[in-house]
Amino acid sequence: MNVLVTGGTGTVGRHVVMLLRRSGHRARILSREPRGHVDAVQGDLRSGAGLAKALAGMDTIIHAASATREPLAVRAVDVRGTRRLLELARDAKIRHVVYVSIVGIDGVAYPYYRIKLAAESVVREDRVPWSILRATQFHSFLEGVLRAFARLPGVIAIPLSWQFQPVESKEVAQRLVDVVLDKPAGMLPDFGGPEVRDFKSIANSWLAARQDRRRLLNLRVPFKLSRMFAAGKLTCPDHKDGVITFDQYLAEKYALS
Ligand SMILES: NC(=O)c1ccc[n+]([C@@H]2O[C@H](COP(=O)([O-])OP(=O)(O)OC[C@H]3O[C@@H](n4cnc5c(N)ncnc54)[C@H](OP(=O)(O)O)[C@@H]3O)[C@@H](O)[C@H]2O)c1
Repeated sequence: MNVLVTGGTGTVGRHVVMLLRRSGHRARILSREPRGHVDAVQGDLRSGAGLAKALAGMDTIIHAASATREPLAVRAVDVRGTRRLLELARDAKIRHVVYVSIVGIDGVAYPYYRIKLAAESVVREDRVPWSILRATQFHSFLEGVLRAFARLPGVIAIPLSWQFQPVESKEVAQRLVDVVLDKPAGMLPDFGGPEVRDFKSIANSWLAARQDRRRLLNLRVPFKLSRMFAAGKLTCPDHKDGVITFDQYLAEKYALS
């Protein structure tokens, strides 16, 4: 199968590309900076440049691009860019688009999540037969959040009671590949990691793996959003699909015995 992978240079998209190619399929990457990547087309969801070229000759799409690092561009890239991509995909007779989303985003007043929901709605408008897979937070993403909270010397202040279900992005990628090779299935069951853990225990594992002696402090976030996260809104305990735990990810990354 010929699969266009938007976000094919990103955390989950890179694994998608590798897994597709390893199993004999063609994975073409859409990227703003395709240099150094094999079978990659330069394009930008924000402007629409390169999208028609990227779609030519493709059968399906795994749509894993998102302006995750540019908060001001998210709506233009994720919502309007998705609409533009799917309009062109309909004209190009693409058979199936698989969109990557996030578990628990309904009703959470976090701007990025609202935009993800709007992007899901664009996919659900049926321009192209679709599947949507919602996943929980990737191991590497949670590590990035911890790093962002760890800028003060001596302490890390985080909302200790927030609940997450960390998942390995490679396992999400494998699921996306399985989905794209199958028939369009609409909203798929959530995909979660093997354990639901609070931020305190996640941070303690991270500090131990890095032999970091900083002290954890509870950061009080007086918003409804924080209560929703503490209540496990971002988790899907009935779907413990991944097998690689956060501690196993850390052990591999920091070469722990
Ligand atoms: N991170 C998580 O924990 C998590 C959990 C569940 C679901 N998700 C969802 O999974 C998807 C992928 O997340 P990720 O963490 O793998 O992303 P990421 O590593 O931040 O990568 C983002 C990708 O989007 C592409 N991109 C950004 N702006 C673009 C634009 N204007 N035009 C074309 N491509 C653009 C980038 O490609 P170039 O820079 O090469 O152009 C890059 O490949 C997102 O939709 C995210 O919401 C993430």
